[in-house]
Amino acid sequence: MQPRHFTRLLDLTSDELRGLLRRAIELKQQRDPDYQPMKGKVLAMIFEKSSTRTRISFEAGMAQFGGSAMFLSPRDTQLGRGEPLEDSARVISSMVDCIMLRTHEHDTVLTFAQHSRVPVINGLTDLQHPCQLLADMQTYFELRGDIAGKTVAWIGDGNNMCHSYIDAARQFGFTLHIACPADYRPLADIVASAGDCVVFFDSPELAAFGADLVVTDVWASMGQEDEQKKREIAFQDYQINARVMAQAQPDALFMHCLPAHRGEEVTCDVIDGPQSVIFQEAENRLHAQKALLEFLICR
Ligand code: CP
Ligand code: NVA
Repeated sequence: MQPRHFTRLLDLTSDELRGLLRRAIELKQQRDPDYQPMKGKVLAMIFEKSSTRTRISFEAGMAQFGGSAMFLSPRDTQLGRGEPLEDSARVISSMVDCIMLRTHEHDTVLTFAQHSRVPVINGLTDLQHPCQLLADMQTYFELRGDIAGKTVAWIGDGNNMCHSYIDAARQFGFTLHIACPADYRPLADIVASAGDCVVFFDSPELAAFGADLVVTDVWASMGQEDEQKKREIAFQDYQINARVMAQAQPDALFMHCLPAHRGEEVTCDVIDGPQSVIFQEAENRLHAQKALLEFLICR
């Protein structure tokens, strides 16, 4: 049987994604230590970029399921010395049950998936961060119910998180309002594929108007550290503050994938205020990815 992969949200159907979120909520509530579906199973985790949440949630999730996770960095493997991705994928996938990859080029994950005999999970690329969206959607469903028909405002960089929100709008049926500086818009083909689900606005206030959920991310992502100063100038009018939140619904939630830069993309009063659900969102990485691992490995 061909393995299923999770390189972006479009790899699963809407129904599968919804089922996965229901399962994540169930697993969170049950927390049954005797349920060990991954006994003897191994997850290889390849990290070419830093991580706190992704590494810990996958490692803890596999341990809680009775399996184990192996941390691999290019520094300590032949990946860092130029061994072809195709060969690496074939070799690694002959020894483990699933591979999680956090890297720069999205094509690296796609190449791995193409040559792997076990499921490959995208743990973040420059283009997409689909695992984070599972946690974000789970958090919204837990706190407010179905997100279909709701309005989400994405304010800031048209980056990997923004692209995954565009995919989520398609898959979960919400409208995504985007406010980005002109030079930092999401990729046109990803936007186009979402059709009417995505609407652009000229200012954060207009994008946030009537929103049920307001989301942002850092202005300079991993690998863009050299652009920090330039980006601080480009994004200075795109901060989420009390004025922006006041445009949203009174019960709107605020999310951020973390790590955050308080005082840059979001003010302290918003990210540490009553509408912010960032820590529930972070914890849900664990539950959502346990449901994902179960879906991909235990088929
Ligand atoms: N949100 C997220 O992916 O966090 P890490 O970079 O810590 O894994
Ligand atoms: N856009 C950020 C997300 C970090 C979880 C980055 O790629 O660095």
